[in-house]
Amino acid sequence: MLTINKLNAGYGKLQVLYDLSIEVPEKGITVVVGPNGAGKTTLLCSIMGIANVTSGEILFEGGSLQNLPTHLLAKKGISYVPQMKNVFADLSVRDNLQMAGYLLPFDEAKKKAEQMTEMFPVLKKFIDRKAVTLSGGERRMLAVAMGLMKNPKLMLLDELSTDLAPIIAEKVIMEVARLRDELGITILLVEQMAKRALEIGDTAYLLVSGGVKFAGKSLELLNEPELCNMYLGIKQPAAAQTLTEGGA
Ligand SMILES: Nc1ncnc2c1ncn2[C@@H]1O[C@H](COP(=O)(O)OP(=O)(O)OP(=O)(O)O)[C@@H](O)[C@H]1O
Ligand SMILES: [Mg+2]
Repeated sequence: MLTINKLNAGYGKLQVLYDLSIEVPEKGITVVVGPNGAGKTTLLCSIMGIANVTSGEILFEGGSLQNLPTHLLAKKGISYVPQMKNVFADLSVRDNLQMAGYLLPFDEAKKKAEQMTEMFPVLKKFIDRKAVTLSGGERRMLAVAMGLMKNPKLMLLDELSTDLAPIIAEKVIMEVARLRDELGITILLVEQMAKRALEIGDTAYLLVSGGVKFAGKSLELLNEPELCNMYLGIKQPAAAQTLTEGGA
């Protein structure tokens, strides 16, 4: 669905991504993991036209995304949930959802917002509260719901688990699996909670210093103890753990 070919990108004179090639297959979760500063957010910013692309191709359903304004990306079916500042803090949950549905006709936006509150009951409970009063996890759910208001084919999700307690982060990541399984949405997921993300993911890329260090199936990356240990802080790969437990 999304193909990135030999992408070189950065900010001004600073180059962050070097000859990066990534394939995001339809209806799956493609996980991008890697240490801080590896260029994960820059990859998403390049797709959204926020970072400066110096060479390479970014193709969505076969057509180039380069030089397209952000609102056209949304019309094409791409929805981006940024790492920070992903909700309007001073607006209510209801108004945040409405703002996110600005491309839809009024009735459709209203119906879609209702669907979102069914999908995320916590949003229904706090529908009239300002987003600033929500907890970190609740705010992250709102940000995802706002992304979904645009009826996306492809969602770019950046570090949904940042600053969340592990149990809440886990819940948020499981919601991502639900987007794939129940709504058939294609997802490009950048995550620092690498182990959980790789467990629910289909395809994985390990980004180190702006280049691809590993590309393959998610579970295969979990079976690379050296890479997991060195770059992801995963001491014992999950698959190996399961085998040990199974054998005991
Ligand atoms: N707007 C910007 N202007 C200049 N440099 C930037 C900008 N945003 C990021 N950088 C630099 O680009 C490099 C890659 O940053 P990026 O945010 O893509 O990393 P990341 O992999 O998302 O890291 P993290 O896991 O901490 O979110 C870093 O060295 C960072 O300092
Ligand atoms: Mg980042």
